[in-house]
Amino acid sequence: MSEAGAPRRLIAGNWKMNGFSRDLATIEAVAGAVGQKPFNCDVMICPPATLIAGSVSTIGNNAAVAIGAQDCHVSAHGAHTGDLSAEMLADAGARAVIVGHSERRGDHGETDSLICAKAKAAARAGLISIICVGETAGQRAAGLTQAVVLRQLAASVPDAAQAETTVVAYEPVWAIGTGQVATPEDIAQVHGAMRAALVERFGATASGIRLLYGGSVKPSNAGEILSVPDVNGALVGGASLKAEDFLGIISACG
Ligand code: PGA
Repeated sequence: MSEAGAPRRLIAGNWKMNGFSRDLATIEAVAGAVGQKPFNCDVMICPPATLIAGSVSTIGNNAAVAIGAQDCHVSAHGAHTGDLSAEMLADAGARAVIVGHSERRGDHGETDSLICAKAKAAARAGLISIICVGETAGQRAAGLTQAVVLRQLAASVPDAAQAETTVVAYEPVWAIGTGQVATPEDIAQVHGAMRAALVERFGATASGIRLLYGGSVKPSNAGEILSVPDVNGALVGGASLKAEDFLGIISACG
């Protein structure tokens, strides 16, 4: 059950650079199961951009599973070889886009201000943005977790952010793909601090912004993580690649 007054939970799968057309069967299996037995959460899968249109045509536009993208350019169109605009992703059928994932911050040197511009581009194109924040192992060891996360949050979330179309994912970098998970106490502390900062900045409406936890979420730990106060869902990497595992996490929402 969600906490009273809390926004509806979101379980979002991030396939990263994984997936071929044969894997549309996984998306079809998840959509089939979610459509048959509606769960107590919204469900999204963010496959690589090559599979967005195919996913949407496989499961249909109004399917129980929304399709999202993993990154976008800040401009609507233009001379940016290899990039995709938020408008193009929306045109392909995406309803959301992840921005500022730690792998993009790391692999491509993305800064908070670029991520903020990407979140604005997403809003311009009518997409939900899933804005990622999270500390590295070194920052955590130095006791800087909260300072880093709150700084990223302040600088990555646009001033014009709307609660319905803004999702924030707290993903400790050391927990991504490692099997190490933050403790419920750690997650509660960071999510509580993020909520307080968002309410201070945007007012009461910020209680509607969904705060996801990400980093080695799997069926066996999802229930515990999802029951932490101010955790409104999960961003799931590795465990979203198999329908059975992803559905196990979705069912933890009740
Ligand atoms: P993981 O990835 O679940 O494989 O740790 C989460 C993410 O990077 O979004």
